[in-house]
Amino acid sequence: MTDPVWQASVVVPPQAIPVFDEALNDAPGLEVLASSSFEVQDGTFWKIEVLFAPPVDRTMLETRIALAAASMDMAAPRLNLVALPDRDWVTHALRALPPVHAGRFYIHGAHDRGTAPAGTLALEIEAGRAFGNGKHETTYGCLLALDRLGKVRKFQKPLDLGCGAGALALAMAKLWRVPVVASDIDPWAVAVTRDNSRCNHLHPWVKPVLADGFGHPALSAGAPYDLIVANILARPLQHLAPAIAAHLAPGGHVVLSGLLAKQDAQVRAIYRDQGLFLVRRRQFGDWLTLELAA
Ligand SMILES: C[S@@+](CC[C@H](N)C(=O)[O-])C[C@H]1O[C@@H](n2cnc3c(N)ncnc32)[C@H](O)[C@@H]1O
Repeated sequence: MTDPVWQASVVVPPQAIPVFDEALNDAPGLEVLASSSFEVQDGTFWKIEVLFAPPVDRTMLETRIALAAASMDMAAPRLNLVALPDRDWVTHALRALPPVHAGRFYIHGAHDRGTAPAGTLALEIEAGRAFGNGKHETTYGCLLALDRLGKVRKFQKPLDLGCGAGALALAMAKLWRVPVVASDIDPWAVAVTRDNSRCNHLHPWVKPVLADGFGHPALSAGAPYDLIVANILARPLQHLAPAIAAHLAPGGHVVLSGLLAKQDAQVRAIYRDQGLFLVRRRQFGDWLTLELAA
């Protein structure tokens, strides 16, 4: 008999996922073994599930959830905390994480290695603490945009701004076999992207950089980019609009994700002021992915 593993979960509306994801996954002193989020109730709500190694401090988790709820101006969702006996959690975690098909991309965990259908572009991304195993609508929308762009143009200088686990940087490296800058404000995301690049044998192409926006010389050195993909929330996307436009090559493309449908007009207007116009718009649930071009 091994120690039980603790499974914490909350059910939240889609727009609150990033905040509660962070509340659970970044709890100080707790070791996260696996983390996933998936639709419940036909997509009206999402369940965020995190598996922790023991011991787990319930009061601390409840406090973090209460603070997250307060920051979203909503009632705190109930924390469901259960011990999973023996190693049932492994089966449980794998079941929750089936491969994701997005256009030609097939994103899978190590447990599904070797299952990629012929003709797909397989990427192995283990579920972990950094955001993005392709399942979330915002990443999914970007992967579809990249799949389309890959059919019409070979980009030479792409940037994945806010790379999380590196899914989009890896996808661009896989498509075009060109150097891809992958930046994130979170050192852990940068480390995970580096590991994922190695695991997928794409490390010669992917250059992970720790940076807030364009605040690192490596970001300016790589400019101008002919493709900038940024799956961040609406507010940072708006804040970054002038810098994104300034680092974009003439005729370049931008893929924006992480904004909600109701934020569409406002975000687009700010990018229009920067000379970037809508080419395509994809909506999954409440989330939008915008493809813009100069
Ligand atoms: C929603 S996740 C997207 C991850 C990945 N690109 C994907 O699509 O799966 C957003 C990421 O942006 C990062 N981020 C947020 N603000 C940022 C900023 N100002 N500069 C760079 N990265 C940022 C976060 O740390 C997080 O890893």
